[in-house]
Amino acid sequence: MAAQEMEMIARALVAPNKGILAADESTGTIEKRFKNINVPNTEENRRDYRELLFTTPDISKFISGVILYDETIRQKNKEGTPLVEILKQQGLIPGIKVDKGAKPLAGFPGEKITEGLDGLRARFEEYYKLGARFSKWRAVITIGNGIPTLACIKANAHALACYAALSQEAGIVPIVEPEVLMDGSHTLQRCAEVTELTIRIVFEELFMQRVVFEQMLLKPNMVTAGKDSPEQASVSDVAKATIRVLRHSVPAAVPGIVFLSGGQNDILATEHLNAMNQLGPHPWQLSFSYGRALQDAPLHAWLGNPSNRATAQQAFLHRAECNGMARSGKYSEQLEAGSGNGQATARKPIVASASQD
Ligand code: 13P
Repeated sequence: MAAQEMEMIARALVAPNKGILAADESTGTIEKRFKNINVPNTEENRRDYRELLFTTPDISKFISGVILYDETIRQKNKEGTPLVEILKQQGLIPGIKVDKGAKPLAGFPGEKITEGLDGLRARFEEYYKLGARFSKWRAVITIGNGIPTLACIKANAHALACYAALSQEAGIVPIVEPEVLMDGSHTLQRCAEVTELTIRIVFEELFMQRVVFEQMLLKPNMVTAGKDSPEQASVSDVAKATIRVLRHSVPAAVPGIVFLSGGQNDILATEHLNAMNQLGPHPWQLSFSYGRALQDAPLHAWLGNPSNRATAQQAFLHRAECNGMARSGKYSEQLEAGSGNGQATARKPIVASASQD
């Protein structure tokens, strides 16, 4: 029963035209986002901002589920309704980030290991009761001089697989996120090599830990040049390189691949997804689980001012719709015209700032 339910949820999360909103920034990370728009990082502001996103009219046409942070899954709106109930009323599936962040990996300068396995079984039980039906764990792989090491990739893959097994045991669909960071000046080719190696090792570990591929989703980075590289690849080259790596490394049994945006400009993140879907059909659904690329526009429209609520919701709906169209390769530049969001590139780039946890 739980197995059937998990497969249904995994498929529902990548239903046609839909993707996931990552709204699971830790309190420290959302502080950086709020600082950009001069909004104090209070519990009330975090709640009001997220409630604004969740209550956006028609958002469930393009968004299937929302990843929450621990604080949010317990929060109620001003009227006392749990935010999880609001999501359900909107037809959105509640999800939860369960990792406790990437910390320095002992003995490996510049590399990280994600923490959070201790006590995770009990936390999953509670999250299920609170309404979570899917979860996320993010591992971070850094490209640099002599890194990543195999030791770092293996340690993170092992933790990801232990997490995913515990998630499925609790009846919660795991989203396995091995993020190869865009930080650095590496080439697209180097990113392709590291991403393929990482995903291959992750699936080996998932197999060893008896994770059921049909009941999970993969959340990878796209294959791009490092953000400080002078040689940025074209949309078409990013799409081709990413698909090539995924075809080499992701079993067809996995229902969907939901990309992170990783610091890309929001419009570019949509263009890349669109180009990849145009290269289909693929063995898996290709969708999005964006944080910054969905929230940059509404954050700048909101500015912490309640009277900007409707404009911010429109900006969010617009980005969600553009990405929804990209799910079937039907996005075009004209969709941006007149939306008020065409100036994404002119906005102060939250997207290039601190990485999303
Ligand atoms: P970005 O799309 O901002 O990279 O965030 C996605 C996410 O959830 C990272 O863990």
